[in-house]
Parts: sequence; structure tokens; C-alpha cells
Amino acid sequence: MVGPSIHELHFDGAPDVGSVPGPKTTRLLQKQREIDSAAVSYPENIPIAFEEAKGATIRDVDGNTYLDFFAGIGVLNVGHANPYVMEAMHKQADKLVHTVDFPTEARLDLIEKLDAIAPGNLAGNSKVVFGGPTGSDAIEASIKLAKYNTEGNGLVAFRNAYHGATSGAMSLTANKKFKAPYTPLLPDVVHAPYPYPFQQAKDPEEAVEDALAEVRATVLDPYGGLANPAGIFVEPIQGEGGIVVPPQGFLSGLRDIADEAKIPLVVDEIQAGLGRTGEWWGSDHFNVTPDVITTAKALGGIGLPLSATIYHEDLDTWGSGDHAGTYRGHVPAMEAGLRSIEYIESHDLLAYARDLGEYIRSRLREVGADNSFLADVRGRGLFIGAEFVDEDGDVRNAGDFVAGIQQRCYENGVLVWKAGQYGNVLRLLPPLVLTDAQAEVGMDIIVDAIEAESSDRAAGA
Ligand SMILES: Cc1ncc(COP(=O)(O)O)c(C=O)c1O
Repeated sequence: MVGPSIHELHFDGAPDVGSVPGPKTTRLLQKQREIDSAAVSYPENIPIAFEEAKGATIRDVDGNTYLDFFAGIGVLNVGHANPYVMEAMHKQADKLVHTVDFPTEARLDLIEKLDAIAPGNLAGNSKVVFGGPTGSDAIEASIKLAKYNTEGNGLVAFRNAYHGATSGAMSLTANKKFKAPYTPLLPDVVHAPYPYPFQQAKDPEEAVEDALAEVRATVLDPYGGLANPAGIFVEPIQGEGGIVVPPQGFLSGLRDIADEAKIPLVVDEIQAGLGRTGEWWGSDHFNVTPDVITTAKALGGIGLPLSATIYHEDLDTWGSGDHAGTYRGHVPAMEAGLRSIEYIESHDLLAYARDLGEYIRSRLREVGADNSFLADVRGRGLFIGAEFVDEDGDVRNAGDFVAGIQQRCYENGVLVWKAGQYGNVLRLLPPLVLTDAQAEVGMDIIVDAIEAESSDRAAGA
């Protein structure tokens, strides 16, 4: 077994919080408001300033220690400062940090490892391109790759999708408010419905049929309107959109359409990938082999910036220099990525994430059984969403409710996040190294927060 057991990774005794935010936190937040960008957003949701972190625990500058059920939005899959990863990262950082794309052992080992764990038949047949360090950069690379190989330009994406904040990625993203100030973006992007049985009030088969019918018409119908399709871009499970798990049949249906149209199926694994769902990739849950996957977030091991686009070798038609970027050789991040994959393998964390996720969802379902505000519990592995509605069963006005739960959790030492277009989905993304005991304590606090918020709402507070 490599590195310490998951039980040895954390600060002891978490959660352990006093009255928050404490004085040092308050001072830092105030200074940040004065000098930092108006675009800063996370502290608007949780007023916190961090000092240090270990495993699934994180400490603020006032010494309060929290259980982290948020993990940097799916970045810290092997926990904060995992020693097995840190050791190699430090060693590498002392030797060599930046190489553009000259070969290093770390780079080549990581490429081989990603090829070995790639979904379906992509394993053993893939190429990996590193570009810029963010998820958005990987999406841009995948758009270029699709266009280059098909000589098309039409892109199919999905409603409720999030793919990033650069222009191409924003074009694929569905949120109009997010991209409205920057139009025109890429032309010829069509957003088809993503099957979301809960919000669409459809049974799963109908939701899949309707979504696939739209994609089929867009891509294959001579009067479908998209003249030169280049690719279908999809999250295997929508993350920002609210941990929306598509029913079986959707991804495989997209696979069939992409094959018929001879365009690549690009699966965005940036949030769902690298073990988060209890399989290496979200697409593994649907037995579908994408032509291209994008990965970032957890790829840098302990939060170092690194992204990659992994694609079938048949698509490897670029000439030298056809995709570029200064930061495509961050060697410590590559070493950290490799080590974090090894740690997950060695500690059998995929199976562990599946079981722990089931426990967390069962706790949420138990609350939902007699709580009319908690309407749907979803997810795979430790990619978990609980969708809330208001007194009238309406999803649109339940964002405040989830904000209230988030605040109560924070005050009691558990960091949780939100998702969904109305902010009405409680999103839980703990590191895969969260222990059973931590999960139980954390869920007690989360359940109490849901119940307290529900009683206040029911009482009209
Ligand atoms: C599915 C998905 N794709 C792309 C991105 C963009 O990644 P980044 O923020 O690193 O650019 C995100 C970020 O949350 C994401 O969840």
C-alpha cells in the first residue's frame, strides 16, 4: 500500500469550530473586499479565510477546523496535502518545474497512466494533449481537435451544461446570464435538452428519448439546421447544473448518433472524473467509450493546476505545434497527478467512494422521506446532489433554502456547496479519503441543518 492509510491524513477532532467568522477571518475578508476583484465569489457564500488543510479537514486563520465536503469543487480527491503526493511533488519542485513539452519521466508516466485508466476502448488507444492548466483550456483543446478532424464547426452541447469561462467553453455553457455580456461567442452551437427526469417531470425513458430525438434531428436531419457538425460535447453527469445523472441510454444514444454522423463524442470529465463517481470516469457508469475526454481539477493531485485532453489515437492528426500553450509542462503537477492516481488505486478508493456515497445518499433519503422540501437525491460515488423545492414544490425559489443549509453547516463545522440553475441543489463533493467516522459526523450536521432550516421555513421564519 502506498502512503499512509486514509485514517492518518486528517487533523484530529474535526469539526471543531467556535463562533465563526472569527476576528482574523473577518479582517482578511474585509481587506479582500477592499483590494481584490469585484468578481470574487466564493467568500460571498461562505465567509472564510483558510490557513492550512489535511485530508478531508481544513482550518481557518482563527484555528477553527472544518470537515470539507466540498474539496475545492472536486479538486482534492485524495485529500488536502496527501503526504504520498506531497513528497513526490516537493522532490520534483526542488529539481525541475517547467519544461513546456520536453519529455520528463513524470510527463511520460502520467500519459501512460491516463491511457491505462481511460474509459472503455480508449484505454490502450489514446493520446494525451496538455495545453493550458485549466479545465476551460482542455475544453478549448477539445473544440479545436473536433474541428480539426471533421473540418466542421457546428457544436452540440446541452441545456444546463457548464464547461468553463473562456470563449469556446462559454459557448458550450448553457447559462445565458453568465455569457450574455460577451456575445457573439462561437457561432453554430446548439443546446439540446439534457435528460433531467426530476425537473422535466418525465419518466427516465421519455426524458432520454426526447433529448436524443433533438440531438438526432440537429445533427442528422437534412433540415435540422446545423450544416457542418463537428462534435457533441456532454458532461456524463452534470455538475454545476445540479448533479444531474442522466438515465441509462442517453450517453450510449449519443454514441450512436456521433458514430452515424462521423463526429466525435466529447465527454467533459473535468468535475466527474478521476474517481469522484466511484469509477475512474463518469462515462464508465454508462459503458460508453468517448472519442475524447477532458480532465482537469483532480488531475493536479493536490490542487496544482493541470488539465489534459485525452483522445482516440485516430484523431491524432495535428502537426507539430498545432496545439500549444506555455504551461503544458508543469512537472510537479504531473508528478502529483500520477501519485494521486496511484494512491486511489492502492487504497481501493473507487470502491470506497461508491460505498461511502451510498451511505451519504441513504442519510439524505432518510431525511427526504418525511421532509417535503427535500425532493430528490442523486449522484454516483461521492458526486452527490440533493434537490430542494419550496412550500409549493417549486424549484425556482429554493435557492435561499440551500443557502440557509450551507450557512448552518458552516457554523457547525462542515463545508458544503450548492449547484443547479436556481442554486437549489445541495452539492456534496468530499475527498475520497473522508473516513466513515467523518462521514457520519458530517452527515449528522448536514441532516440537522436541513431539519432546522425546514422547521424555520415551515414556521414561516
Ligand atoms: C464540467 C466542467 N467543465 C469545465 C469546467 C471548467 O474548468 P476550470 O474552472 O478549471 O476552467 C468546470 C469547472 O467547474 C466543470 O465543472
